[in-house]
Amino acid sequence: MTATFGAPSTLRSGDSIDLGPAVELISKEEGHRQPLAPEFVSTEDFSPLEVAYDFGRITREQIEAGPRNIWRYKSLLPVPSNVEEYPNTEPGCTKLIRADRLAKELGVRRLWVKDDTGNPTHSFKDRVVAVALAAAREFGFNVLACPSTGNLANAVAAAAARAGWDSVVLIPSSLERAKILTTAVYDGSLIAVDGNYDDVNRLATELAAEHETWAFVNVNVRPYYSEGSKTLAFEVAEQLGWRIPSQIVVPVASGSQLTKVDKGFRELGEVGLVEQTPYKVFGAQATGCAPVANAFKKGYDVVQPVKPDTIARSLAIGNPADGPYVLDVVNRTGGAVEDVTDEEVVEGIRLLARTEGIFAETAGGVTVATAKKLIETGKIDPDEETVLLITGDGLKTLDAVQDHIGPKATVEPSVDAVRAALAD
Ligand SMILES: Cc1ncc(COP(=O)(O)O)c(C=O)c1O
Repeated sequence: MTATFGAPSTLRSGDSIDLGPAVELISKEEGHRQPLAPEFVSTEDFSPLEVAYDFGRITREQIEAGPRNIWRYKSLLPVPSNVEEYPNTEPGCTKLIRADRLAKELGVRRLWVKDDTGNPTHSFKDRVVAVALAAAREFGFNVLACPSTGNLANAVAAAAARAGWDSVVLIPSSLERAKILTTAVYDGSLIAVDGNYDDVNRLATELAAEHETWAFVNVNVRPYYSEGSKTLAFEVAEQLGWRIPSQIVVPVASGSQLTKVDKGFRELGEVGLVEQTPYKVFGAQATGCAPVANAFKKGYDVVQPVKPDTIARSLAIGNPADGPYVLDVVNRTGGAVEDVTDEEVVEGIRLLARTEGIFAETAGGVTVATAKKLIETGKIDPDEETVLLITGDGLKTLDAVQDHIGPKATVEPSVDAVRAALAD
């Protein structure tokens, strides 16, 4: 008997599935192939599964004529051909901002900020959830679920509400209040667990095996979910005029996003949408939860789990599922993984806000501060073009900055008082 992981027997799988160009699942370690199904671990070598495609002819013109959301890239994603016809939050097509003032502060020539705070629930997680929902519908699930460090909770609860599905969202009870409220408002089943994310994740894996109709987006439909992160790479390339930047800095929690940005760039080259130019991928972590940065610095190819202790709670995954694959990508492309202290994270948030008028959450602070450190240590080349992925909104992590910022003064309602305060 072959073991299966998360593929309940009553759901559809195999030939009758329309997931566009997706044809099979392939194991990351040894390349074993198996039919498309809601499974996430190879039955052969027990490594994570990834989606394999048979891409047809794809042109820039086709994509440019598509909708102003991630479905313009549906010919590169594991989603049904008519995906845009179902209710969904329509994420993507966020701004790529030429960040000249930040570039000047950091001492680099050409810098871009991909501002993914512009998504429907204000983080890049809307992208991965939209793809997971589309695949889950095709497999016959009807409940959307997840363990989350916060942003995914928002995205799952909102996407399920839009689709008319129930949602079950598990979070560590210590999460930022804003992230709890911005999930609860969608009125799914939000469960706060007294434990850290790694406890919550373990719980979700057990529940996924028990509940046939629950699609845990980042567990049993993870191979499809994670493909949504490729759309960040697709958009960056398209917005740069169909070319790949030389350097990109990506925040790392589970590590999925970083590996998929790399996969996205490679696929664009493979199908001929961009020239296959070299690029370096850099990972950003908070020192209080830096298992991948630690492994990178020691030259390991495996990641030793840590107990997270950082204000960057969205990145607080102590045992990152894709950690080893982040190391592969970073080593293959000539990048690095670096980490920054919580003080540097707050500084990073403030630097981005002050120079570009973008208020990022703690993960964005990690990215900016890490980029600064990588520039100062010569790992990022200041003469090459760099893109920073800003993946979440500062309004969700106000507690990280509340003790550091505030009004310049509180004054009486008189012009003199304001004048005096401004003169200080
Ligand atoms: C804002 C934000 N950025 C980046 C990440 C990292 O994502 P990944 O788990 O794919 O590494 C997360 C994860 O929750 C996040 O919330």
